[in-house]
Amino acid sequence: MKQNKAAPVIAVDGPSGAGKGTITQMLAQRLGWHLLDSGALYRLTALAAERQGVDFTDARALAAVAAALDVQFEPTPAGEPVRVLLAGDDVSRELRTERCGENASQVAVLPEVREALLQRQRDFQQMPGLVADGRDMGTVVFTEASCKIFLTASAEERAQRRYRQLLDSGVDVNIDALLEEIRARDERDMNRSTAPLKPAIDAQLIDTTGLSIDEVLEKVMAASGQA
Ligand code: DC
Repeated sequence: MKQNKAAPVIAVDGPSGAGKGTITQMLAQRLGWHLLDSGALYRLTALAAERQGVDFTDARALAAVAAALDVQFEPTPAGEPVRVLLAGDDVSRELRTERCGENASQVAVLPEVREALLQRQRDFQQMPGLVADGRDMGTVVFTEASCKIFLTASAEERAQRRYRQLLDSGVDVNIDALLEEIRARDERDMNRSTAPLKPAIDAQLIDTTGLSIDEVLEKVMAASGQA
């Protein structure tokens, strides 16, 4: 796959739980554009490293794992999460666990890992367009994006959303522990020296606290000029 720089990009960044995953999937579907879930690449790197017994402090070995990721994203019917295969193995569920998110946040701190994933992410820029979901889509990976959006929500609201999601999928969790985890992850994502989580200068900020998915989607469509 080769990057097509003429293809428009809508870059959607923001902290965990701001609703980026759901919104970008719906947006890509509505526009008929490609979707990049960049967080999945960091999660896959952490998962592959764990399976291969690679130490999470060994930046060079982790970068090698990231560069060699054997991954396929399989399209699914509307509304269903994308199927992700790692070396042919369906890891869709494992990828979404708190543990995998935590490990991803750790490997994402390393500049070597970020560099190793850069071109793989840019290759998703294909006609007719790309919706890119992440932390540094507008600031690093697609600085020329035609539209940059930064989605936020209060940490309490994000913890509530994640809590309901986990309960729905039959996982019993403690809401206070979730809130603590979300705050710790925000802290790490915002304060790392390489590609910290922050809005691009030219990003439009949308606070999703108290809004329904449909309300957020309408705001994002309007902000991207696609409404
Ligand atoms: O969006 P997510 O929860 O799947 O992301 C998992 C972790 O990966 C998150 O803690 C930060 C990191 N990440 C990143 O550093 N840069 C991105 N573009 C996407 C995710």
